[in-house]
Amino acid sequence: MTSARRLVAQHLQGLRLSGVDFIPKEPEPRPPPPAEAPRVTAEPPAHAPLVEPKPSADTRPQADDERSRRQALLDEVRRRYERDAPHERFVTGHTRIVFGEGDPCARVMFVGEAPGEEEDKTGRPFVGRAGQLLDKMIVAMGLSRDRVYIANVLKTRPPNNATPTPEEAALCAPYLHDQIRIVAPDALVTLGLPATRLILGSDESMSRLRGRWARIVTGEGRVVPVMPTYHPAYVLRQYTPEVRGKVWADLRLVVDRLAGLPASP
Ligand code: URA
Repeated sequence: MTSARRLVAQHLQGLRLSGVDFIPKEPEPRPPPPAEAPRVTAEPPAHAPLVEPKPSADTRPQADDERSRRQALLDEVRRRYERDAPHERFVTGHTRIVFGEGDPCARVMFVGEAPGEEEDKTGRPFVGRAGQLLDKMIVAMGLSRDRVYIANVLKTRPPNNATPTPEEAALCAPYLHDQIRIVAPDALVTLGLPATRLILGSDESMSRLRGRWARIVTGEGRVVPVMPTYHPAYVLRQYTPEVRGKVWADLRLVVDRLAGLPASP
């Protein structure tokens, strides 16, 4: 596909995702942010970029050895997780560990809640219905699944797909933080409340947190911008143009950010 055709296809995919069935002549103005700032760390003002901006493509050219180095580090975290088996300290309904997958040098990392039935069967994150919607979101962003990294708060399926408790999330958090530190994405998208609350250490509601940049600092001192948005499973349950439009607006903030950042490191 030519790049122009790809861009048009991407744009249409985004429109479909957000429930838009017509193309307005002028872009819609962005709604003003809520008056009260969330408790989470705010982003610095636009005039203080985290890194020198430079136009970049949707890819992050990496030497193969850097990709291999990071993959080896991720493999080591996985082995440590398997050895420590933090999930043995709470009740699970799992048969497989779903550690996470994707490009170790991804510019965008998604963090979901916990594996479901399909993920438990395959050992891969986000391969069920919610995963199919996530795939569409990724494509609408001009990315592909193999160029992003996907992980979950819990690495094992909870019984009856229960929402992870804060205690369960805390037990598994060190491994997720290691995944984030190693991948060091330019943007981390938290999908739904458990992931957002764990990553941001916030107890705010999703409607207050979504669509606003926050940031975390990894163990290596690297700043990772965080964009919370609704979980695809929630979008499937509330499949309205309003909800889809909000998610797409959040993802567009990520796309815009990537376009202004260098494809690094
Ligand atoms: N929901 C999640 O949060 N993660 C998955 O991997 C699948 C569904």
